[in-house]
Amino acid sequence: PSEASRYLPASRELPALAAAAKECRACPLHERASRTVFGEGPATAQVMLVGEQPGDTEDREGRPFLGPAGQLLDEVLEQVGLRREALYVTNAVKHFGWTGEGREVLACKAWLEAEVSAVKPRMIVCLGATASQAFLGPGFRINLSRGQVFETPWAKAWMATFHPSALLRMPDERSRAETRAHFEADLRKVAETLR
Ligand code: URA
Repeated sequence: PSEASRYLPASRELPALAAAAKECRACPLHERASRTVFGEGPATAQVMLVGEQPGDTEDREGRPFLGPAGQLLDEVLEQVGLRREALYVTNAVKHFGWTGEGREVLACKAWLEAEVSAVKPRMIVCLGATASQAFLGPGFRINLSRGQVFETPWAKAWMATFHPSALLRMPDERSRAETRAHFEADLRKVAETLR
């Protein structure tokens, strides 16, 4: 079982989970991170977006996807007509990691599973390989399955797409534009699923 499972509270509602996650010491990341960045959004959200791990902006502010990747995400969400406030947004790993600290996806997995159980989203959208593999294991290949909707034990509809940071890192303008178009198309599909 995930190391974090011993930090799970008796109540599995989101506020109790978020409070308990503040005290999580299941992996070494808590030692140097400023705070736990738990997921946020309504318990009734139909869509759960799962990123990788908070960056330094999120570490400072305590909320997921606020930095450059979050701004790009917000822009594309707005373009496809998804309201971020209506989504549950979280990360596979809840603490910021300094370079070389690793990602601790397995240690943290109990939190992600508890969030899925509390929200019961109709659709889970994983941003990037780390989030996808947190659910489906290291064999999952995002470049083969990106944009496809699967039924999984966690949600009737489950999709992997690009991580916005991957777009930001692309030096070549043409590949960046192409990747962004795919990212947008994937999120448009999410918006349509909800209609
Ligand atoms: N990248 C992520 O994967 N998650 C965040 O919250 C911010 C950046």
